[in-house]
Amino acid sequence: MKPIIMAAIFAAGLCGAASARAADVAKGKSIFAEQCAACHSAASGQNGIGPSLYGVYGKPAAMTAGFDFSPALKSAHIVWTAPALDKFLANPQSDVPGTKMPYMGMANATDRADVIAYLATLSAPSP
Ligand code: HEC
Repeated sequence: MKPIIMAAIFAAGLCGAASARAADVAKGKSIFAEQCAACHSAASGQNGIGPSLYGVYGKPAAMTAGFDFSPALKSAHIVWTAPALDKFLANPQSDVPGTKMPYMGMANATDRADVIAYLATLSAPSP
């Protein structure tokens, strides 16, 4: 049973890598609502258990005003590019040991890509 499951997961991973699927912002928004919104607001300036994620895409980590970030994240010197977000969301504690984000990680790379595409929409349009 186990090897079959592993093979299925492996095959799914390969398909995901091979197809040039565009990230799905709407799906990312619903994943955000299910898995992130308990702690994170998408609105500017609204910090909760976690910092507001408005405008976080492309910005240096731990810069949102009014949120008490962990020393670990403050000293990680990450800029939240898509690859950096992908690595963090896959496993926050292994990417930034000591982070106080109590989230186990998102195993599915397609789901991560969709959430990241949604996060990229959370900022003022460039002038
Ligand atoms: C149970 C609460 C909780 C959940 C659920 C959660 N987070 Fe967090 N998140 C936090 C906290 C707390 C921090 C601050 C971490 C630190 O200071 O080390 C954080 C930090 C972050 C940061 C860094 C922000 C910055 O300004 O540097 C990002 C990006 C992020 N979370 C994205 C997400 C996404 C996307 C999800 C859903 C897939 C999610 N988080 C789920 C609590 C949570």
